[in-house]
Amino acid sequence: VIRMNDLDLRSKRVLIREDLNVPIENGRITSTQRLDAALPTIKAARDAGAKVMVLSHLGRPKEGVFDAESSLAPVAHWLGEKLGKPVRLVADYLDGIEVAEGEVVVLENCRMNVGEGKDNEVLAKKYAALCDVFVMDAFGTAHRAQASTHGVIKFAPIAAAGPLLSAELDALGKALEQPAHPLLAIVAGSKVSTKLTLLDNLIGKVDQLIVGGGIANTFIAAAGHSVGNSLYEPDLIDAAKKVLADAKRRGAEVPMPVDVVVAPEFSAHAPATVKPVDQVKDGELILDIGPETARLYAELIAKAGTVVWNGPVGVFEFDAFGKGTELLAHAVATSKAFSIAGGGDTLAAVDKYGIAEQISYISTGGGAFLEFLEGKELPAVAALKARAAK
Ligand code: 3PG
Repeated sequence: VIRMNDLDLRSKRVLIREDLNVPIENGRITSTQRLDAALPTIKAARDAGAKVMVLSHLGRPKEGVFDAESSLAPVAHWLGEKLGKPVRLVADYLDGIEVAEGEVVVLENCRMNVGEGKDNEVLAKKYAALCDVFVMDAFGTAHRAQASTHGVIKFAPIAAAGPLLSAELDALGKALEQPAHPLLAIVAGSKVSTKLTLLDNLIGKVDQLIVGGGIANTFIAAAGHSVGNSLYEPDLIDAAKKVLADAKRRGAEVPMPVDVVVAPEFSAHAPATVKPVDQVKDGELILDIGPETARLYAELIAKAGTVVWNGPVGVFEFDAFGKGTELLAHAVATSKAFSIAGGGDTLAAVDKYGIAEQISYISTGGGAFLEFLEGKELPAVAALKARAAK
């Protein structure tokens, strides 16, 4: 694919699709992670003398109506501060706007435009007509085939991959396609059902798979142990057994917890008790891995060549049940492995334990990161490739 950094952008009208979908509470941005990641792309285009138009969605507003809650106004304000110059937020842009060379403007939430979600061609052509160069940089939305992430790529005079999108694809490709071995994945979270495709794909690639959270509970049940009142999915016990059989066939390891932390109820102040994994009683909830398990997992992580981390292994929002996740976080941080972390809860854990600087690559993708791990081709990336092949 064509890369933005290889193009001469001077005096060009450059439309950059970013994923500036950040959490906002009462008009205040509560995490700037995605903005920080997009900023270098925007600065590079500005410094190259382009007329920069930044396009993004925020939340999931209804098309065709203005929704103040989903306005990109706080984002435009933030960008203005970082760029040292106020950034205009343009609401009415579909029929063309004037932008000066070296100026950056933000176009209002593209999901308020009729046809965005359905990848409407008329709308895609309008986006295309705004620019000389379209830059797809929104890795976090690359799994959506929408007018601003997919359709526009067909019609823009030139369509290029932005530096953030390229960096994400390079890092994920390095981890999954040419990994330094052993390749270890940590896949945790509440449900096997939402991560089954991902587990099926990863088990064909990894040397070790550590499961955690509700997913681990289903695996514990599959091993024939009681999980008491823990969150688990009885319907997916066979799916878990199949993952274990696939692992065995390939010689991959799926270590099981040897001890767990249980509590009588799901609450921050519930008493936490460590016990062997085969002694969980009715009425008890597994809320974390135990210290011996965490130690064993940390040893594996220390020896890994590559670590892919998605999902906390316990209820780390409650400190009493966060020790497993904290230990693994530090193991990932201190390991010499090339490490990648992604997904909302994982990034919250990375933040909580202050290890962001020690992770090799932190993905801005939530759903897009998961779809990549599932082995799916992201529609926006497919469109860029198809365009480059022409
Ligand atoms: C995300 O937050 O994962 C992306 O911005 C995509 O948002 P969406 O799930 O509303 O398409």
